[in-house]
Amino acid sequence: MARITASVYTSHVPAIGAALDLGRTTEPYWQPLFAGYDFSKRWFAENRPDVVFLVYNDHATAFSLDLIPTFAIGTGERFQPADEGWGPRPVPTVIGHPDLASHIAHSVIQDDFDLTIVNKMDVDHGLTVPLSLMCGQPDPVRGAWPCTVIPFAVNVVQYPVPSGRRCFMLGQAIRRAVESYGPDLNVQIWGTGGMSHQLQGPRAGLINREWDNRFLDRLITDPDALSRTPHDDYVREAGSEGIELVMWLIARGAMADINGGAAPKVAHRFYHVPASNTAVGHLILENSK
Ligand code: DHB
Ligand code: FE
Repeated sequence: MARITASVYTSHVPAIGAALDLGRTTEPYWQPLFAGYDFSKRWFAENRPDVVFLVYNDHATAFSLDLIPTFAIGTGERFQPADEGWGPRPVPTVIGHPDLASHIAHSVIQDDFDLTIVNKMDVDHGLTVPLSLMCGQPDPVRGAWPCTVIPFAVNVVQYPVPSGRRCFMLGQAIRRAVESYGPDLNVQIWGTGGMSHQLQGPRAGLINREWDNRFLDRLITDPDALSRTPHDDYVREAGSEGIELVMWLIARGAMADINGGAAPKVAHRFYHVPASNTAVGHLILENSK
């Protein structure tokens, strides 16, 4: 049986990718940010999954106002790093897991969540920056990411966006789907985006440390109540792009305690301001073995 062994939560700021790609990680501005992921890279190497189910949002790269899927699952064999206007990031192609992805699509759709199935799409910084932060930077040509990845894109860009509650319940359906897959696979689920940030308008640059840290506390200890936070609260308190945090609730909903099991262990917690215009948050939660 496939199992969800851990969840990882991290911001996905594009400038972090640029700092990595341009070899600037030891500069004074970036060093404290990357130091927060030293543990994570060691942890990932020691707890390497077979598959990462990676919840992220597409930033008008694969999708546009022509087509706005609320939830889209990548069922393809491979996904190329997207050209977001300055060339694709120099990172390897993302290798999918079509069999597990198709199984999850079948199970979750029959469990009343209507997913869009995507066999072909490029993946932007929302997906590749978390991979770089957790896995390091493999050689773009000869190297490979250390595991397969199922991209799961959530619309948090164009309103209406899904509620935190629906995201949390979807995470529970994803857990049921993974656990009904026969082959013995170690699966991690990652939620990305956030934390507080607003990229445009009079409030551009908004950061709310107190709200962010309370979100981290509640995500660990009281995710059920947290999932009832209305989307207006995210936007008012954490900025227009703070709404990306609903994606963390998908990963949290897939953890054991939400589904009748034991509370997770907090393996790592990190918070840092600033990275570009964004507050960076990061958590690793492990299910008990
Ligand atoms: C920034 C952060 C994001 O999450 C994003 O998708 C784009 C830009 C930023 O802080 O610059
Ligand atoms: Fe984003």
